[in-house]
Amino acid sequence: MTDQANTPVAKKLFIKTYGCQMNVYDSQRMAEAMGAEGYVLTEDQSEADMVLLNTCHIREKAAEKLYSDLGRLKPLKAEKPDLKIGVAGCVAQAEGEEIIRRMPVVDLVVGPQTYHRLPAMVRGEAPKILTDFPEEDKFDHLPARRATRRAPAAFLTVQEGCDKFCAFCVVPYTRGSEVSRPVERIMREARDLVERGVREITLLGQNVNGWHGAGEDGREWGFGRLIRALGDLDGLDRIRYTTSHPNDMADDLISAHRDVPQLMPYLHLPVQSGSDRILKAMNRKHTAETYLRLIDRIRDARPDIMLTSDFIVGFPGETDEDHQATLDLVAKVNFGTAFSFKYSPRPGTPAYERAEVDSAVADQRLQDLQALLTRQQKAAQEGMVGRTLGVLFEKPGRNEGQMIGKSDYLHSVFVDAPEAQVGDLVQVRIVGSASNSLQGELAA
Ligand code: SAH
Ligand code: SF4
Ligand code: F3S
Repeated sequence: MTDQANTPVAKKLFIKTYGCQMNVYDSQRMAEAMGAEGYVLTEDQSEADMVLLNTCHIREKAAEKLYSDLGRLKPLKAEKPDLKIGVAGCVAQAEGEEIIRRMPVVDLVVGPQTYHRLPAMVRGEAPKILTDFPEEDKFDHLPARRATRRAPAAFLTVQEGCDKFCAFCVVPYTRGSEVSRPVERIMREARDLVERGVREITLLGQNVNGWHGAGEDGREWGFGRLIRALGDLDGLDRIRYTTSHPNDMADDLISAHRDVPQLMPYLHLPVQSGSDRILKAMNRKHTAETYLRLIDRIRDARPDIMLTSDFIVGFPGETDEDHQATLDLVAKVNFGTAFSFKYSPRPGTPAYERAEVDSAVADQRLQDLQALLTRQQKAAQEGMVGRTLGVLFEKPGRNEGQMIGKSDYLHSVFVDAPEAQVGDLVQVRIVGSASNSLQGELAA
């Protein structure tokens, strides 16, 4: 959707994004950077002049997907020798030149902190492999976000990297150490987005609530203060953020959930396990009890908040008792939804060499946990029926006159609203709950 007025023949770029929302955001920024080079996005890989795979390294399966996708690209490259194939993201960072060695069809490998140089790489004016952590800030070298038309909900990366070093996790190695973007840049990007019709912004970071920086008043701001400043931005109706670490939930952030009406009543707060022994082995630096007390304080500030989380089952050393402690924690908190994963040993992480839990046992634990989480998710959804909620329309539905939007709690809601347009934020009465969505009616 980039303005192409000055470019005679547009080349076509196909991007496939794996992994987390930060990759989704990075893919958009790479598309914008390539847009300035005359590339337009295509949904059809077979007509592409360039294919860019923006990869995830978090679990083995995620990383292996890259190689099966590259295998499938071989015939296309044989047919079209000029086709450029680029690998970006966290596998690019972790494996670097190994990717080209294993898959010679790949032309370029670019890490998450160097992708502002992608246009130069494509022009042949920069090395084919760029995976350093440069001193310069890539955001200073990317085109301003004014250039593109916007959907009503957008991502905005405010913080990158991680210094927490959980024993299972590759992120501190693939994304580097924690860096917060300056307030003034964040506010400028938010204003640009709002001017282009964005009404909801999700602030992104691997430890987004650990964001801090010098504020517009010259004082050191924490993340709560940043949210308050965004709450004062005219035209920005909804604010969300993800992902947070429990140890970075400062008082000012918790009270922002009470004070800032634009801040949606939804919080993703990964806990990983309910067993103190396992939390310690994971290097999470909190206990089940401190997590539960934190949840109490958050619910005191915002009683209607919906909580979601991430869990890992089968971490090395996990016993039946440890697993039961996780189920107990889940029962106590009552999550709106949650992601749960079977532990995947990742090369280079502290837990990699540790003895693994029997795979069948881990599978069973995952099933038990998911059954419980699914019951909670269903109950949370059904609890919405009868309530009137804000819904931001994001696209037309399949049926005539139907709109699909997101509720305050991030549920997808289908509404018959023939007069409505994408970008409308309306009050909707929830009348039904299906497996992965809600039905609503426009409130009078
Ligand atoms: N920065 C975020 C998210 C990290 S990755 C955070 O701290 O919460 C998203 C989720 O993937 C993690 O919360 C964890 O549940 C899961 N994950 C990370 N490494 C994993 C591994 N080696 N095996 C299985 N799941 C993993
Ligand atoms: Fe990974 Fe832990 Fe950092 Fe999250 S906090 S990115 S799980 S190391
Ligand atoms: Fe995956 Fe990298 Fe995100 S490893 S989860 S894409 S930070």
